[in-house]
Amino acid sequence: AFAPLIDGHDRRVTYLRVSVTDRCDLRCVYCMSEAMTFLPKRELLSLEELDRLCSAFITRGVRKLRFTGGEPLVRRDLIDLIGGLSRHLDAGALDEITLTTNGTLLSRHAKALAERGVRRINVSLDTLCPDRYRAITRWGSLDKILAGLDAAQAAGLAVKLNAVALQESDEGEIERLMRFAHGRGMDLTLIEVMPLGDVGAHRADQYLSLETVKARLGQRYTLEPIAHRTGGPARYVRVAETGGRLGFITPLSHNFCESCNRVRVTCTGQLYTCLGHEGAHDLRAALRGSEGDERLDAAMDAAIANKPKGHDFVVERGSAPTVARHMNVTGG
Ligand code: GTP
Ligand code: 5AD
Ligand code: SF4
Repeated sequence: AFAPLIDGHDRRVTYLRVSVTDRCDLRCVYCMSEAMTFLPKRELLSLEELDRLCSAFITRGVRKLRFTGGEPLVRRDLIDLIGGLSRHLDAGALDEITLTTNGTLLSRHAKALAERGVRRINVSLDTLCPDRYRAITRWGSLDKILAGLDAAQAAGLAVKLNAVALQESDEGEIERLMRFAHGRGMDLTLIEVMPLGDVGAHRADQYLSLETVKARLGQRYTLEPIAHRTGGPARYVRVAETGGRLGFITPLSHNFCESCNRVRVTCTGQLYTCLGHEGAHDLRAALRGSEGDERLDAAMDAAIANKPKGHDFVVERGSAPTVARHMNVTGG
């Protein structure tokens, strides 16, 4: 019989985020340190294991699947994985397969994604200034991302831009991003930096509250709250002057854990039921055991029953990272 995944706080898990690799071709300053080391490839779940894992969650009521990384598109077999899993879309068992990408490989893969049932994607882009882009990503080329966005839109994919708000962003930077996104029919979501892993910089020097950003934007634009929901944590406004949607993801200034519907699996099959806690549950052993889906289901149930109420992120001068692992492990 169908048994939905319900946690100890009466929240239903309907959204699975799968980090298919911890590798990335960039090193954003808020995400990793420059000298990041990655897992040996043999540790990773195989394509078949990933398919089985996602399918097990779909059987238990997950309706939305998002692939993340690291950078998900650096994994060569992601396109095949999505192609296989699209059977659940066809069967009506799943509403959406999507990904969060840094955009470097989109020119190459946008069309293939669209052909396999992906309808929209989220692309990380924090600035439109080429020098700032290089400084934030440590060596990324803005032109490449802009070409990727073109390819995505040409393939018919809806695009949402994700920008991490940084203290060093200058006044006009977010506004420029917003005008760019809305001018091209894309949503823009702003994100508060979270204290995940040691990145060799003080989080207090990076963190910019979105309350501040919203207040600043509110002096120049009319921001009308709207009920737009995607299943993610963003709260949206309509910007009257541009006609576009602007989202705010505010783990620090306005906690949204109460309505959390998500869990995360890493590329080695570790299930994290909260971004802000250390504890993981090993699903790889269950996947590789000989007991079949029963052991996997039992492992999922045990983990989700203990899903924490929420995170306890603190960004203060001298405060240590709330959790030791970096964002590329759990994929945001
Ligand atoms: P949509 O489907 O477009 O709503 O996307 P999404 O916001 O669910 O996914 P995306 O990968 O674009 O996430 C944007 C940011 O939101 C990332 O930095 C995530 O870390 C953050 N985020 C997503 N879910 C959670 C969560 O449960 N807790 C916290 N603290 N942050 C989250
Ligand atoms: N805090 C907030 N967002 C982060 N991202 C990466 N590291 C962090 C962090 N420490 C963002 C990326 C991407 C999304 C998945 O997470 O920019 O848009
Ligand atoms: Fe790569 Fe994304 Fe981390 Fe940037 S935020 S280094 S693009 S995984």
